[in-house]
Amino acid sequence: MRIILIGYMGSGKTTVGRALARELGVPFYDLDWYIESRMRKKVPEIFAEKGEEGFRKIEHNMLHEVAEFENVVMSCGGGTPCFFDNMDYMNQQAMTVYLKADVDVLYDHLRMGRTERPLIKGKQSEELRAFIAEQLAQREAFYKKAKYTLDVSLMENYEKIHISVESLRKLLGI
Ligand code: S3P
Repeated sequence: MRIILIGYMGSGKTTVGRALARELGVPFYDLDWYIESRMRKKVPEIFAEKGEEGFRKIEHNMLHEVAEFENVVMSCGGGTPCFFDNMDYMNQQAMTVYLKADVDVLYDHLRMGRTERPLIKGKQSEELRAFIAEQLAQREAFYKKAKYTLDVSLMENYEKIHISVESLRKLLGI
C-alpha cells in the first residue's frame, strides 16, 4: 500500500499526511523534507542556487526514490504533479489523493504560514491572492488526474485534521 497526497501549497498535505500515517501505523514521508535531508540543503537554498528548473529535476529524481517505498503515506510539493510525467508516475505507484481547497482557504493558510516558500516570497495580500488564483487554475488540470479528491475547504480548522483523516480512510476504504 502507498498513499500520496497532492494539492496546492497550503492545502494541508503535510499535516493531514502525517496524521493519517500515524493512525495507520506506517511511516510518513514529505517529499520536500526528503529532498532537504538528501541534499543537506533547504528548499529555498536549492531554488536560489539552481533555479526552479534545477529544483524540479531534483524533485523528480527524489520522487522516484520515495515512491518506491512500500506501506507509506507520502505528501509531495504543490508543484510536483505539474512537471515531467510525475503525475502519471504517482498514479502508477500509489493511491493518489488531491486535497482540494479553494483560493480563500489557501490564501489564509499561506498568509499565516511559517514555511519559507520561494514561489510566493515577498507577495502579500491582493498580489498573493491573485497569484494563488492564477496558478491554481493552471495546476488544477494536473491535480484532477489524482485517483481520489477530498475537498478540505469546508472543514473547520479545529476539527480539520481529524475529519480529513477519517474522510480519507472512508474514501480509500482503509
Ligand atoms: C512548491 C511547493 C512547495 C515546495 C516548493 C515549490 C510549488 O511545497 O515544493 O516551494 O511549486 O507549489 P508545499 O506545497 O509543501 O508548500
